[in-house]
Amino acid sequence: MRVITTAADFREAERAARRPMGLTPTMGYLHEGHLSLVRRARSENATAVVSIFVNPTQFGSSEDLSTYPRDMEGDLDKLRREGVDLVFAPCAAEMYPKGFDTYIDVGEIAARLEGAHRPGHFRGVATVVCKLMTIVRPDNVYFGQKDAQQCLVIERLNSDLDLGANVVALPTARDADGLALSSRNARLTPEARKSALSLYRALRLAERLYAEGARDAGAIRGRMADLLSAEPGVQVDYVSIADAKTLVELDAIGGEALASLAARVGGVRLIDNVTLGT
Ligand code: PAJ
Repeated sequence: MRVITTAADFREAERAARRPMGLTPTMGYLHEGHLSLVRRARSENATAVVSIFVNPTQFGSSEDLSTYPRDMEGDLDKLRREGVDLVFAPCAAEMYPKGFDTYIDVGEIAARLEGAHRPGHFRGVATVVCKLMTIVRPDNVYFGQKDAQQCLVIERLNSDLDLGANVVALPTARDADGLALSSRNARLTPEARKSALSLYRALRLAERLYAEGARDAGAIRGRMADLLSAEPGVQVDYVSIADAKTLVELDAIGGEALASLAARVGGVRLIDNVTLGT
């Protein structure tokens, strides 16, 4: 496994690499969710590439960039064990040198949900993913459905700017009790982790109501919000039942819908989602 830290060195390695090439972009502190993407990339490509870069431009000024967990050595050990060929791990100055002044704004799909609550977040995500895809030039690029809106934003970006990759979205990996794996879970106290489970319970409730025939999106949102508000230490950012492709909030569920939510639990912001009607 080769670890490369500059775009120039990566381009050189890329020219010699066997195709197809699969890229899994990450911000590190890798867990089984990340590794499930890496395994798929490993199985579908001749060259498996993982990028590790905690991207400052996708964090708001009051967000958790400085406390975002990091463990480069541990991450590299895990990736070695998965048989990854190339790791691209640039520093911030390599990605954003002095004078950097070009950003990518994906439109409507990036303005909803996370975009409405984290201004500038998807601008940072789209910009860094575009740069990573331009440097790495993957045939296939792997993302987690855990960040469902991010998947839609990247599909739009890839299509609108002709980046030419196949975008693959993979299911959310969860702990045995259902909590979605996230690097941020490391910052939950045992008590907060217990409260965080209410996010999954709210999504399970949406699934159950849908299975029982409920189609009134407002009523389902209401039941989810009630469940969350009964949980101590959980502050809800949003509860959404939206069209799974456009993320427009629904009155009535007809086709495929995305039930998603964001909440702060003990100072840690968590998101999760399930799809209804598949
Ligand atoms: P990060 O949060 O490190 O996640 C990297 C990838 O792993 C994303 O595609 C994310 O959806 C996926 N992932 C995270 N938790 C998962 C889980 N429990 N199950 C399955 N997949 C999971 O997302 C980012 O980094 C950044 O925004 C990035 C795309 C790297 C751009 O900076």
